[in-house]
Amino acid sequence: MANRARTVLITGASRGVGLELTRQLLRSPQNSVFATCRSPSSAVALNELIRGPDTKGTVHILQLDQDDEKSVSAAATKVGEILRADGRIDYLINNAGVNLVGRTPKDGSDVPSALERKSFLATMTTNVLGPALVTQAFLPFVMRGGEDDRRVVLNMSSELSSLGLLDEAWYKTTCYSISKAGLNMLTRHQAHENPSVIFLASTPGWVKTDLGGEDAPGDVEESVSKLLRLLERAELKDSGTFVNNEGRKLPW
Ligand SMILES: NC(=O)c1ccc[n+]([C@@H]2O[C@H](COP(=O)([O-])OP(=O)(O)OC[C@H]3O[C@@H](n4cnc5c(N)ncnc54)[C@H](OP(=O)(O)O)[C@@H]3O)[C@@H](O)[C@H]2O)c1
Repeated sequence: MANRARTVLITGASRGVGLELTRQLLRSPQNSVFATCRSPSSAVALNELIRGPDTKGTVHILQLDQDDEKSVSAAATKVGEILRADGRIDYLINNAGVNLVGRTPKDGSDVPSALERKSFLATMTTNVLGPALVTQAFLPFVMRGGEDDRRVVLNMSSELSSLGLLDEAWYKTTCYSISKAGLNMLTRHQAHENPSVIFLASTPGWVKTDLGGEDAPGDVEESVSKLLRLLERAELKDSGTFVNNEGRKLPW
C-alpha cells in the first residue's frame, strides 16, 4: 500500500483483524480510513492507535453496528458528508463478525455446535445480513469514479465455511460455519449483480484474536499484510471467488 492513495471503509475496527487492517493502512499518509465500530467511545485500542506516532493517514472513526439498519444508514450519511460529491471508497472491507456459542438446554453449558434459536439468529444477523446491508448502504460510494477504476468489496469469510475442506475437527462450529457459507453465497450474488466491482470472499486464516483464540497458529499482523496485498492484486476476473489471504482459490 506504499504509494497509491486508497480510501477504505472497515467494519469491526475496534479489535482483532479490523484493528490491524486500520493500523497497517494508516501507516501511509496517502490513505484515508473510515474505521467503523459499534462503540467508538469504548474502542480503547483504536483510539490509542490513531493518536500513535505510526498513524500517518487520515482516519474517521464512525459508529456502525451492522445489526442495526439505522446505525448503518447513519454511518452512510456521515461518509457521504465527509466524501462530498466526488470522493469514493476504493475498498469496502466487511470484516466484523461473531462466533457465538449456543447453550445446551439440559445443563446450560456453552457448546459451539449447539443450535439455539437466539444465538443462531444473532449469528446470521451479524455475519450474513449485516455485510449485505453494509454493502447495500455503501455501494453508491464504491461505484463512484470512472469505468476503469478498480474497486473491491472484501467479505471476511472463514475456512470453516467450506464444504470441501470440512474436517472432523471443524464440526465444532455449526452455526458459525453455516453463516460464513451464507456469506460466500452472498458474495457470488453481489458479484453477479455488480459486474464492475470486484467482490471477494476471503479469510485471514486462523489467527490469534479474541475470536481466533490463543491457540491459533497465525499472527494477525502477517495475515493482514497478505489481505492488503490481495486487495491490491485482485482483478475483475477474480470477482465472486472464495480465496485465502494469498489469493489461492478455496473450495466452497
Ligand atoms: N481470527 C480468526 O482466526 C478468524 C478466522 C477466519 C475468519 N475470521 C473472520 O475475520 C473477521 C474478524 O475476526 P476477528 O478474529 O478479528 O474477531 P474479533 O477479534 O472477535 O473482532 C470482531 C470484531 O467484529 C465486531 N463486531 C461484532 N459484531 C458486530 C456488529 N454487529 N456490528 C459491528 N461490528 C461488530 C467487534 O466489535 P466489538 O468490539 O464492538 O465487539 C470486533 O471489532 C470475522 O468476520 C471473523 O469471522 C477470523
